[in-house]
Amino acid sequence: MTDAQQLESMRHLGWAAVSAAFGSLGRFCMALDGDFRVLHTSERLDQLLGHGARESITGKPIAALLGNELFGRDGALRQKVAAGRKCEGWRATLRLEPEGSRLVSVTAARLIHDAYGVCDREAHYIVVIRPAEEDPAAAAGPTALGGMIARSSPMLRIARLIEQLQQADTTVLLTGESGTGKEVVARAIHQHSTRRDGPFVAVNCGALPGELLESELFGHARGAFTGSVRDRVGRFELASKGTLFLDEIGDMPLPLQVKLLRVLQEHTFERIGENVSRKSNARIVAATNVDLARAVAVGSFREDLFYRLRVVPIEIPPLRNRRADIEPLTEYLLARVGARGGRALRLSPDAARVLLSYEWPGNVRELENALEFAVAVCEGQTIHPEDLPKELTERGAPHEDPTGAAAELERKKLRRVLEKHHWRRDEAAVELGMSRTTLWRKMRELGVRR
Ligand SMILES: Nc1ncnc2c1ncn2[C@@H]1O[C@H](COP(=O)(O)OP(=O)(O)OP(=O)(O)O)[C@@H](O)[C@H]1O
Ligand SMILES: [Mg+2]
Repeated sequence: MTDAQQLESMRHLGWAAVSAAFGSLGRFCMALDGDFRVLHTSERLDQLLGHGARESITGKPIAALLGNELFGRDGALRQKVAAGRKCEGWRATLRLEPEGSRLVSVTAARLIHDAYGVCDREAHYIVVIRPAEEDPAAAAGPTALGGMIARSSPMLRIARLIEQLQQADTTVLLTGESGTGKEVVARAIHQHSTRRDGPFVAVNCGALPGELLESELFGHARGAFTGSVRDRVGRFELASKGTLFLDEIGDMPLPLQVKLLRVLQEHTFERIGENVSRKSNARIVAATNVDLARAVAVGSFREDLFYRLRVVPIEIPPLRNRRADIEPLTEYLLARVGARGGRALRLSPDAARVLLSYEWPGNVRELENALEFAVAVCEGQTIHPEDLPKELTERGAPHEDPTGAAAELERKKLRRVLEKHHWRRDEAAVELGMSRTTLWRKMRELGVRR
């Protein structure tokens, strides 16, 4: 044997020994190259992933297996590990074809090379995975599921529900304040469904006037109305093999609600100006930040449609009621925002405390904007409290002044919603999920005036 061959066989043995050691602990390991592609896998990986899996993943990016949110170019774990830090306690869904996905706990680190050169020099990182249910320590850790980060118990419940729905085509209704992540959850549902290779088609039902929305949804025939010079395929048709995301469903005009109900019940529809019935198999996920039950009560939303949509209702709580999510969301969003500017930034402990104690009236979207702001103004590697938007530090200590801060928040919210509805109190009350008299009383108490 030549020296090179000898070294090669030593490496082979070395990796086999490492894999066997991890295997005895119920763990599966992979070595990655500098581009985060899979170089070596442990023998037992086929047991977890199915026969032939080892071979098929070798050479592929680890992100294809464990998701872009963690291991894509802007992924939180990728950045951390590349910077030489160790990552433990995260959970991610492992993509398995064709079975679906499986939750695993993930540990990742940069490989430290030994002095003997036994380690493959091409191997830069090591990733160790383990079925999540066998790792109670990771149960409290953050989970990444199709772009959605979750650590708080309500969000973990949603993550579990998404997994349970994997094989079903059930209609889902998502509710939650603005910026809580309704679209993120909708996409995660799609990515974890049997339709994941089909399109995810989003329509904002609040952004278009009735007629345009109708043609957007159902399409139209040429000449159906002035200006329609071509046939148009509607979103229901486009989404036939995928998921149709009906955003702001509470804003859909009543006549269209009738048509929507019909598609949901009979799976047929017609393009405007045509009398050919067409089939649609689109899976529907709808979202709203208005209280639809209230809207039903005041007659602006059809009751039958409401029940038809909320086969599986998912309520996403505001960020202030699930503070356990703030830290992993920050880590994830900071990696994403920082990567856009080619920077890897950290938070000082003081800045992290500010984020944890703020009320986040604008929820995750506000958190993302705050981090974007911080990345823009921060000059060094570390974000300090003074790099954060002023409102976070000024009113950012609700624990010192619970009543004042809460009242200010509520005042802001009422004002925002009232303005949105041109100060029509009945409409604003629907959106706020309160009666008109309650709204009137609150406006008086808080001094909200036009
Ligand atoms: N759980 C989450 N994990 C990762 N990112 C999230 C999560 N929730 C929200 N985000 C991020 O926060 C931002 C707002 O999320 P999203 O657009 O889904 O909110 P929304 O509820 O649809 O808001 P709106 O009611 O205003 O439409 C997005 O940039 C999204 O990527
Ligand atoms: Mg949205």
